[in-house]
Amino acid sequence: MSFGLSRGRTLDSGEFGIRAMNLPPLPDDCISNPEGARLDVRGWFDHPERPFELEIGSGKGTFLVQQSGHQPDTNFLGIEYAHEFYAYAADRMRRNQIENVRMLHADASEFLRWRVPTGIISVLHLYFPDPWPKSRHHKRRMMQDAFMTQVHRVLESSGELRVVTDHLDYWAWMEEHFARWCAPDHSPRFDRFEFARPESAGDGEVVGTNFERKYITEGRTFNGAILRRAD
Ligand SMILES: C[S@@+](CC[C@H](N)C(=O)[O-])C[C@H]1O[C@@H](n2cnc3c(N)ncnc32)[C@H](O)[C@@H]1O
Repeated sequence: MSFGLSRGRTLDSGEFGIRAMNLPPLPDDCISNPEGARLDVRGWFDHPERPFELEIGSGKGTFLVQQSGHQPDTNFLGIEYAHEFYAYAADRMRRNQIENVRMLHADASEFLRWRVPTGIISVLHLYFPDPWPKSRHHKRRMMQDAFMTQVHRVLESSGELRVVTDHLDYWAWMEEHFARWCAPDHSPRFDRFEFARPESAGDGEVVGTNFERKYITEGRTFNGAILRRAD
C-alpha cells in the first residue's frame, strides 16, 4: 500500500511499527480492574530494562529520529493516530534501523488511560499538539485534567512532562492547568521548570520538530515548560 507522504514508495513498518488494533482487547473488567488492562510496552524493545520515554503526536517522527541518537541507551515510543504519519515514521525508523524507537498507531489519550503501566515513563514529550482553537472543540485538546491525572500516574518518581506549543490561546489554557497541578495544596502534584532544549535541537530551535520548522518560517513564537512529578 502506498501513501501520500511516501511519494510512491511502499512503506514498511517492519518490527518498528505496532498498531493498537492488533493488540489484545481490553479485558471485560477493565473498569473495575484497570491494572489488568496494562501492557508492558517496554517488552517491545530489545533492551526492556532501559529508561523509557514516550512522545505523543510524533507526526513524521523527526524528534525521535534526532534525539534517539543522543540517547542510545534509552527506549522511545512514539504514539501517532494519523495513519499516514504513523506509517511514514515507522518506515523511517526501519530504514534507519533505529533500534531504540518504536512507533505505535493509537489514540494516545486512550492508550495512556488504559494500557500504560504505572510509573514506567521517565520523560513524556508533547510537542506542538493540535490546538483545537474553537471553544466547542476545547474538550478535544490533549491537555485536560484527566490527561494530567494519567501523566502523573505513568511517570516514574521525578519523571517529566515536556511541552511546547506555538499557539497562544492553547498556551494560556495549559498555563491554567499547570497552575492548578503545581499548586502547593494540589495532590497529586508537579513542580514546574523552564523548558530545556533537547540536545538534538538545531541552532535557533526549541525542539526541532517538523511543525516547529514550518512555524519558524511564519515568525511564530513558542512557549514551553517542564512539569516534574513532585511526589
Ligand atoms: C500539530 S502535529 C505536531 C506533530 C509533531 N509533534 C511536530 O511537532 O512536528 C500534532 C500531531 O499529533 C497527532 N495527534 C493528535 N491527537 C493525537 C492523539 N490523541 N493520539 C496520537 N496522536 C495524536 C496528530 O495526528 C498530529 O500528527
